[in-house]
Order: sequence, then structure tokens, then C-alpha cells
Amino acid sequence: MQLQNVRVLGPAGLSPPTSVAINAAGAADRDASGLILSPGWLDLHAHLRDPGFLHKETLQTGATSAAFGGFTHIVAMANTDPVIDRPELLRELVARAAALPIGVSFVAAVTMGLEGRSLTDAAALRRAGAVALSDDGRHLMDQATLRRALTAAAEAGLPVLIHAQIERLGKGPESEAAAVTQALEAVESVPGARLHIQHVSTHAAVELIRTAKRHRLLVTAEATPHHLALTAQDVTALGPHGAVNPPLRSVDDRDALRLALAEGVIDAIATDHAPHDVGAKAAGANGFHGFETALPVVMGLGLDERVLYRACVERPREIIGQSIDDEWILIDPAAEWIVDGSSFKSRGKNTPFAGRRLRGRIVMTLCHGQVVMERVMQHA
Ligand code: DOR
Repeated sequence: MQLQNVRVLGPAGLSPPTSVAINAAGAADRDASGLILSPGWLDLHAHLRDPGFLHKETLQTGATSAAFGGFTHIVAMANTDPVIDRPELLRELVARAAALPIGVSFVAAVTMGLEGRSLTDAAALRRAGAVALSDDGRHLMDQATLRRALTAAAEAGLPVLIHAQIERLGKGPESEAAAVTQALEAVESVPGARLHIQHVSTHAAVELIRTAKRHRLLVTAEATPHHLALTAQDVTALGPHGAVNPPLRSVDDRDALRLALAEGVIDAIATDHAPHDVGAKAAGANGFHGFETALPVVMGLGLDERVLYRACVERPREIIGQSIDDEWILIDPAAEWIVDGSSFKSRGKNTPFAGRRLRGRIVMTLCHGQVVMERVMQHA
């Protein structure tokens, strides 16, 4: 497929309009004036609920939803039922994922059952296909266990992803800062260990990570579109639809995240896509649908295009050791639409952005020469 007059997102930002040939079976050449071509985005943090909670999401519905949101590769967390803590289950999931239209990789648990006590077999999980280890959703490890986990993961060549919250301290900002402090101390004492802090939400955590990076610790960090776009002020209006963990924070926290992203202290944007059914959400379940709103929410932040590329394309891949593999998205940055969860491909309709007018939409997603999705755009 030949695209004319398309602007290409790359490490140096957006190119001037140019002509690009894309490997795409059967897709007709087109004038792409006004559109942006980007390597597909990689989402480091998704909950696909498979196995165990298939009414919330499955590998298939999650992958389709991600493709509609502009992700050509997503990374699924281990808090399923059963938990992904054994190589046999992981191998089964990896085999099923091979048939999906986009890349789906898996994170395996750090501790059996996410219970924070006995370690999983990092080396065996790596051989079965894990790209990282995380107890995401929980954080029950004490300092000694965390250190042992970092050691085993380093030997297996895997990063450890941390849901930074000391559970007995609750969900306040101090809890996040205490967990980040502990994790940074632990990683400092384990040569070669790689630590990644998930969904950073507070100014305090940003400062700790900034200092650690200055001291050349091997630490990376992600922030979610919702923590970058929303604050505690939105929670009042959202009611149960505002419940997420970590919670939406203050304006100061949000602004610190935005600055940290621009500076590269926060490496990556990751959705924490957490689909829930209506009943669970009404009963207080934490989490937001992430895939299908992420791109316009992130584009609405007004980031420098080089930062956009780094945070959504480049750093997420580096963190889990993947390269860009013939995967593309075509974006209409000017397309406006009103968010309606019922139109999502995901089973999770639980969006905090319902009713909002967003700007930016995926026109086409391509993976390995196949058109995975194409949206017929209505132009005014
Ligand atoms: O809001 C959240 N939802 N935070 C988490 O840490 C877990 C996630 C989930 O699995 O629903």
C-alpha cells in the first residue's frame, strides 16, 4: 500500500508530508493528507482477565480492543484466576496468543498466588515466554523477598515490575513513596537487577525516581493516561466510575507526572487497561478501560512528538526487550468523537471518559502485512 502525503512519527518527531510504501496485503493506495503514520504503540500494562474472568475480557476481545486503540503489542498482567505463576499455564497462554492479530506478551507473577511469600521459578517462566515478572494488583513482598526476587529475575534476564504500594499503609501518596523507596533500596543492592515502577501517580515517587536515575540505578517507570489527564477533582463527578488503584491524585501530582514524562524520568505511558463488568464497578471495583481512549487522551496532553514516540513506541519495547516488528498505525489526529463505552470492542465499558469529546482516532492498524482493523471515517 502506498500512502501519499502522510506524516511519519519517529524518534525525531513528525516528518513533513511524504510518500511511504507499507507492507499491507490487499489494501488500496491512498492519499493520507492530514494523517499520521506511527509504528504501532506497545502497552506495557494490561489486564486481559483470561483465564478466570472471561465475562470481563478474553485474550481475543482484549487484542481486538487494543488494535482499535492503536496498540499492536500489549503485555498482560498475571492477576488472573489461576494466577500466571506456573510455566504450564503460561505456555498455554503463549500458544493461544500466537493466533491473535496483534502481539500479546505475558508477565508472570513474582510470588506464587501473588501472595508475597514464595518466589515463582523465574528461569522456567522466562523459558515459557514471560517478558517480565510482576505481582501487579498486589504488593505483599517484604524487603528480603523483593531482594531475592530481583536476584532471581536478574539471573533469568527479566525485569521486575512493581505495583508500588505498601498494602498495610493503604492507597495514599505516602504508601506509594514508601514502596518506591524500598524497591529502590532493594535494586541498589542487587547487581544487574532491573526494576520498573508501574503506574507512578505521585509527585513524591517522581522525585525518588528522578534521584535514582541521576545515581544511575537501573530503574524505569510508567504513567497511565488517566493519571496524566485526570485528578481527584474528577472523582466526585465520576462516582464509582472514578475508582482506580492507584487513585486519581492532586493537580500537583498530575503536573509532576507530565513534567517527568517530558524529561524522561517517566519512560513510558501504559494504560493499566482494567476491564470490569457493570456490577463489579457499581460494587466498587478499581480500574478503568484503557485501550480505546488512550491515544486521544495522550495526544490531548500536547506532548512534544519526540516524547510521544519515546513514551508510546520506543521505551515500552526497550523495557521488555522487544523491537518494532512490521507493525503500523494510521492516525487521524483531527478526528473528534464522543466517548461511549457501549461502542468499545472490549468487554470492559468502564471508562472515566464517558461523554467526553476527544480528538484523535485510529484509522487503520497493520501487523505483519495484515490489516487488523480499518475504520471508515466520517469527514465533515
Ligand atoms: O485499578 C486497578 N485495577 N489497579 C490495579 O492495580 C489492578 C487493576 C485490576 O486488575 O482491576
